[in-house]
Amino acid sequence: MSDIKNDKGIVLVVDNNPGNLRLLENILTENGYKVRPAISGKLALMTIQSTLPDLILLDVRMPEIDGYSVCKKIKEDNVTRDIPVIFISALDEPINRIKAFNVGGVDYITKPFEAEEVLVRVKTQIEIRKMQKKLAAQNKQLQSEIAEKKRTENQLQKIRQELEIRVKERTKDLEVANKNLQAEIQQRKDAQRQLQQAQKLEAIGTLAGGISHDFNNILTIIHTCSQLVLTEISREHNAYVNVEKIIKASERASTLVNQILTFSSKHQTTNFSPISIVPIIKDALDLLKSTLPPHIDLIINIDIDKEMISGDAIQIYQVFMNLCTNAIHAMEKQEKGILKITVTCHLIADDKRSQYLPLKEGHYIRLTVQDTGEGIAPAMMERIFDPYFTTKGKGRGTGLGLAVTLGIVEKHKGIIHVDSNLHQGTIFDVYIPILKNSHLPPIKSQASILKGTEHILLVDDEIDLLHTVQLLLEHLGYTVSAFESPVDALREFEQHPDRFDIVIADLTMPVMNGKQLTKQIKKLRKALPVLISSGNQSEILEVEMEDLGISGFLMKPFLKNELAESIKHALSTSENISFNL
Ligand SMILES: Nc1ncnc2c1ncn2[C@@H]1O[C@H](COP(=O)(O)OP(=O)(O)OP(=O)(O)O)[C@@H](O)[C@H]1O
Ligand SMILES: [Mg+2]
Repeated sequence: MSDIKNDKGIVLVVDNNPGNLRLLENILTENGYKVRPAISGKLALMTIQSTLPDLILLDVRMPEIDGYSVCKKIKEDNVTRDIPVIFISALDEPINRIKAFNVGGVDYITKPFEAEEVLVRVKTQIEIRKMQKKLAAQNKQLQSEIAEKKRTENQLQKIRQELEIRVKERTKDLEVANKNLQAEIQQRKDAQRQLQQAQKLEAIGTLAGGISHDFNNILTIIHTCSQLVLTEISREHNAYVNVEKIIKASERASTLVNQILTFSSKHQTTNFSPISIVPIIKDALDLLKSTLPPHIDLIINIDIDKEMISGDAIQIYQVFMNLCTNAIHAMEKQEKGILKITVTCHLIADDKRSQYLPLKEGHYIRLTVQDTGEGIAPAMMERIFDPYFTTKGKGRGTGLGLAVTLGIVEKHKGIIHVDSNLHQGTIFDVYIPILKNSHLPPIKSQASILKGTEHILLVDDEIDLLHTVQLLLEHLGYTVSAFESPVDALREFEQHPDRFDIVIADLTMPVMNGKQLTKQIKKLRKALPVLISSGNQSEILEVEMEDLGISGFLMKPFLKNELAESIKHALSTSENISFNL
């Protein structure tokens, strides 16, 4: 049997009886096992340290250290504990077997033994051991696979969480981008609407500018002549009331012309100065209270003090009156109504700017006119600022009120917000920037009729107007030399330059306009005061007035008081100039 290869496993055989030892060695070797023989327990423990056997055949009774103790030691050592130990002994009592199993033995063979029995038991235990090893290896592999799987799962979980966070962030970014896009689209729509509005207003402005000159001349004649008639007849006279009506009507017509003119001077802000809004609103409220229908309650809340804006008082008055008139009209069919006026300071913070575009961050005066009237239908909302858009009956509304109001507010670098609910009411909010570090100009003295005796050179190509103004001035005590032709006027002046104290000239005249005439006159008498009159202030710039040395501008149609005050003012300032010279 020597040809059998010794690869079935290594068996450590321990027996103090050399005969037994050899017999076992032979049996096992012949059956393909490698055998390590050990003649004592001590030797067996030493051999085990150098080569780990696959199985131990261990005798029980041995001197010095018996089989039980050897087995115990083997089982205590982590390296050797898994090696199966088969006891082989002549002791055949159950107690011996029990002890053998208690110390860790896996089998017990009694002597004398059959070689076959030994071989079968050895083979069985070695195979069990092999399978145990295989199982342990598989188990280890499985555990490492499980651990790997867990690691992968954890990583996957982490990636999933990261992905979710990124998706959330991206969604948020997209939402913000979408919101911004919507805002931009809205902004563009608004800008387009504003552009269309501006173009319409400009077209009307150009037209209005063209006719306003003649129209104002006519109105000046009507107004001035009526004023003159009033000074010549007594209050008891039958015509007195009618003449008063003519004056009122011409003033209304003049307001209307000014409404239209607001378009043509849309970008002109030369009349702007620091003004306080409260006195203007209070003035307008006085008028409003006297004309307010009894079924409307007025609530006023003015919560600003010295805040000022850069603007034109008359135009602000116009804005306020237009909004209030509309509010009152909206409530006229109701039994009861409330008109609420609020004036407050309002801070537009940077993060809220989008609601107030194109306004910048800063402090604004907010003027609110709120009514409980019929409201504005959503379909109408787009059109209410269009010139000539009106829902009022024929002869009741021109449809210019809000168009003018918007033009004025924009000229004051402000905006208008409208909020309306049908059958519930409307709120108009006007925002105008507050002027930083401004001071109120000195309050003008109460206007009074200022008479004078000076000599006036009056020039206007409108013959009727010329005579009317001449009469008015003479009525005030002045001596007047009136000329229809600027060329004749200049000739007269050249002959008697020292005869005159002041010149009043129309701006638009054929052959020689007011500016050219002023230039010629100033060549002879630099300090002589000159007043220029016109129906449209946008025709002359403030810088031009300064360059030419013009003392003032008279907007047609002018009231008697305005005319008298302007003359007095021009005369007094030119005296100063002459004195300084
Ligand atoms: N407070 C309001 N309540 C309801 N509708 C209003 C209000 N303000 C304006 N409107 C609507 O807007 C339209 C245009 O107003 P706007 O002031 O421009 O002209 P109008 O009042 O009709 O005429 P005008 O002011 O020239 O006499 C009005 O006809 C009306 O339909
Ligand atoms: Mg109106």
